Amino acid sequence: MCGIVGYVGYKPVSPVLLDGLKRLEYRGYDSAGIAVRTADGNIVVRKSKGKLSKLVEQLNGSAPQGTLGMGHTRWATHGAPNDVNAHPHTDESGRVAVIHNGIIENYAELRAELKARGHVFQSETDTEILAHLVEEEFDARYKAADAGVGCAVALLDAVRAALQRVRGAYSFVIMDARVPDLIIGARHFSPLVVGVGENENLLASDIPALLEHTRRALIIEDGEIVALTHDAVRIYTLDGQAVEREPFDVTWDVVSAEKGGYPHFFIKEINEQPAALANALRGRVESERVLLPELDALDLERVERVHIVACGTSYHAGLAGKLAFEAWARVPVNTEIASEYRYASPVLDDRTLLILISQSGETADTLASFRLGKQQGAQTLALTNVVGSSITRGTDASLYLQVGPEIGVVASKTFTAQVALLELVALDWAMRRGTIAHDAAHEILASFLRLPDLVQATLGADHQTEQLAQKLTQHRSAFFFGRGFGYIAALEGALKLKEVSYLHAEAYAAGELKHGPIAMLDPEIPVIAIATASPTLDKVIGNMQEVRARRAPVIAVATDGDAAIAQHADAVIYIPHAPDHLVPILAIAPLQLLAYHVAIARGCDVDQPRNLAKSVTVE
Ligand code: M6R
Repeated sequence: MCGIVGYVGYKPVSPVLLDGLKRLEYRGYDSAGIAVRTADGNIVVRKSKGKLSKLVEQLNGSAPQGTLGMGHTRWATHGAPNDVNAHPHTDESGRVAVIHNGIIENYAELRAELKARGHVFQSETDTEILAHLVEEEFDARYKAADAGVGCAVALLDAVRAALQRVRGAYSFVIMDARVPDLIIGARHFSPLVVGVGENENLLASDIPALLEHTRRALIIEDGEIVALTHDAVRIYTLDGQAVEREPFDVTWDVVSAEKGGYPHFFIKEINEQPAALANALRGRVESERVLLPELDALDLERVERVHIVACGTSYHAGLAGKLAFEAWARVPVNTEIASEYRYASPVLDDRTLLILISQSGETADTLASFRLGKQQGAQTLALTNVVGSSITRGTDASLYLQVGPEIGVVASKTFTAQVALLELVALDWAMRRGTIAHDAAHEILASFLRLPDLVQATLGADHQTEQLAQKLTQHRSAFFFGRGFGYIAALEGALKLKEVSYLHAEAYAAGELKHGPIAMLDPEIPVIAIATASPTLDKVIGNMQEVRARRAPVIAVATDGDAAIAQHADAVIYIPHAPDHLVPILAIAPLQLLAYHVAIARGCDVDQPRNLAKSVTVE
């Protein structure tokens, strides 16, 4: 997820771009940059690693002058977050400038092809290929075009031709130094909106960047290109058909617009999960295979055991990894809490794969565990959301979540992406090792392809969880339980409730209930049971009956179509039918919603709960 903004009009463009980027910084803050077409017909690019404030400091009153330009705030996916990889990118002539939000899946082959034709690349990004592709396409057309309108049409054609070559997700903004009053946007699976002004028009990833200038907006849809001049907005399909669309009036204020109209980032990020998972899986799953070239850096043939090490929510994701690795790849796995692992005496050598999971990539205990593993010769794989974070420096391989920044302190979309990617690694490995039958692998691949839609369906529980939350707030404590993959949802669900609503919550493996916790149960302790379709559902139902015998109220999370479960519960939240390995992902969505609504009912600070930090960089 990155923030992009483009402008054509009459105002000095640099302040417009910088202000727009400030409103989009929630979308990424690894680096920031602007490109401006100056009066002498050149494009001047200024960019810098780090937050936008660093770029502003560097510009220090010397921002490029012009009335046409683009700006970008980056959340890295390809290439480290440094000055060179910061957007905008240009071709080698410096005439075509491009910014991008998304992932170009076939960038490696396009890059090789362009290099073979003599193009020289400056950055490691996937984005830069588009600048070179457009330059090639436009050069030919520009020479043949009439000045003025002819050039504008030629540039639009060139962009269209270049985009035909690109596979993946994108919103792009493109301009060329030779075309003074034109900025072009394109969208495919990444957001792009137009701000329709008076003698000025804007492009942005999100509405907050527009509101300083206009409240009239147009949403660009997937597969569309939009051409902006100072006095016109023209939308086309990729194959050149004109599209008619009327602008609408934006009624949100800037702050709620940054949250996409949601009152808090936590609830926004919960609702972003279908799109976040689509991005996390993009280019990595096909119906017949997993594509994780990041793993090629590891010597998997040598690996005899896996240690997964993490903290908090990331640890819970690691528990799902253990179940998947052992079931599919038949390799023994220990999932460990990093603060314990670093002071224990784990058995590690070069036949151990140490997988470190950290959303931030900066958690002190996880980093210490990495150093321990490294010293003892283990192979190391980082699973993180932050490109260039400390955990990625020195690990043999890094796998990025690709879900964009998570602003709420409480993890939501990063958990579901962690589980999905770990399971994908397990599947990939099982397929390489031949430990999984073709049909079984095929079924799992198909389940990942459906995953964003399945998660979308779980979010329909919002209203029901809001009602249940009213009841839960009357209690002081809640239990969660489940078995297997359901136990992981229980653990993460209890953590959500604790973190965000301060209601005491504990999770147990359902079979453990009789070994102590059952002593606590009475009508004052509600129990949330993960009772989805699984080989152990009967056992879970038995545990629910034990709970109800102690008159504790039960809320079940169950599989669509299981009407019979209602006789064992006071309330049932249904999630779509799906294979067991998806339960941590599908069952957690309603539990996140439940935690959110309890927190709201209790008047808690949802995005910054007391005593918590997003990233725990000290012991
Ligand atoms: O950045 P990390 O994934 O290493 O962070 C680990 C935990 O601190 C984190 O998951 C924490 O538990 C969150 N607050 C969960 O919502």
